[in-house]
Amino acid sequence: MSAFAFPASRVPDPAEAPSLRWGIAGPGWIAERFVESLARHGSQRVTAVGSRAADRAAAFAAPRGLRAHGSYEALAADPEVDVVYVATPHTAHLEVALAAIAAGKHVLVEKPIGISAAEAGKIAEAARSAGVLAAEALWTAFLPSYDIARQLIRGGHLGGLTAVVGDYGEYLPPSHRAHDPELAGGPLLDLGIYLLALATDILGEPDRILGLGTALANGVNGQLSALLGFPGGAQATLTTTMQGFTPAQLTAVGTEASLTFDGPFNSPGGLTVRTSDGEVHRWDGMPGDHVAGLHFQAAAVARALEAGRTEVAERPLEASIRALRVADELRRQAGIVFPGE
Ligand SMILES: NC(=O)c1ccc[n+]([C@@H]2O[C@H](COP(=O)([O-])OP(=O)(O)OC[C@H]3O[C@@H](n4cnc5c(N)ncnc54)[C@H](OP(=O)(O)O)[C@@H]3O)[C@@H](O)[C@H]2O)c1
Repeated sequence: MSAFAFPASRVPDPAEAPSLRWGIAGPGWIAERFVESLARHGSQRVTAVGSRAADRAAAFAAPRGLRAHGSYEALAADPEVDVVYVATPHTAHLEVALAAIAAGKHVLVEKPIGISAAEAGKIAEAARSAGVLAAEALWTAFLPSYDIARQLIRGGHLGGLTAVVGDYGEYLPPSHRAHDPELAGGPLLDLGIYLLALATDILGEPDRILGLGTALANGVNGQLSALLGFPGGAQATLTTTMQGFTPAQLTAVGTEASLTFDGPFNSPGGLTVRTSDGEVHRWDGMPGDHVAGLHFQAAAVARALEAGRTEVAERPLEASIRALRVADELRRQAGIVFPGE
């Protein structure tokens, strides 16, 4: 019998975080879930929404009792907003985040924080110059289950790390914006970015990158696989597709144990550890949807600001930029070109 035991999560109670006033940029799919998550959990308060069109802002604002703005600039200028949650398609993250930062607002930007490492670097630089907080809303990094995984991995409880194995496929129908080349379509930025974020969080910066992509009939990438090599010999094997569902699991392999996140690995859920003596250990975290999980990142922003920090420890900007550096190289090899490049 091995001495393995799961540690407790160190994530503080989100209800005890100081309350910030949130403005929502982009009243779409994820924005609806973020607002509902904040309404149901924790101590954060959504006060306003911004859209490119006044009627769409009003339609989102009215049932929720929010202030409505017909442009992202007007949202950024709202004195009743402390922090802007950027929930537009990937290609608009940079412009909307820079406008908010220029107006002196803190920003929490949906994943990926930009479509390239260069865009992410611009947001980081602008936030640093303005003295405001910027963070990537990679919600997985803020979940209690991920904090348990982090303790196991960084505390050496899996032994020496040798591999990360992960897949993330969903069927995204042709009507989804991921099929639009003008919105940086393909599975990489909607789904694959989670694989890259976690693989590089666990194993660091790869020194070898191999990418293989397959395009759909309209030229947008449909699936993409990556082999990453890390100093010291660890490897990551990762695959993402928007042409069908896969188990969406991720496993970190160590010399003494391996750790598997229940699929979908980016959501709240359980963990399985298999130790090298063949024992299986379970941590039965409740599976949860976006509403159950999105509020943790908002509380983390509030705690960071209370502590006088302009980044969140759970997802430092350098980690966001590192994952996008890998994405950039994979795209170069797979011939995936985004708007403006
Ligand atoms: N954390 C997660 O689990 C998760 C899940 C899904 C998506 N996301 C991320 O959240 C972001 C938004 O995704 P979504 O699925 O919510 O997007 P969406 O519903 O397609 O669009 C969000 C909103 O962005 C606004 N927008 C601004 N510029 C636009 C443009 N050029 N074209 C179209 N719409 C534009 C639109 O509002 P107006 O036209 O009214 O301005 C739209 O309602 C993405 O970066 C994605 O990666 C995260």
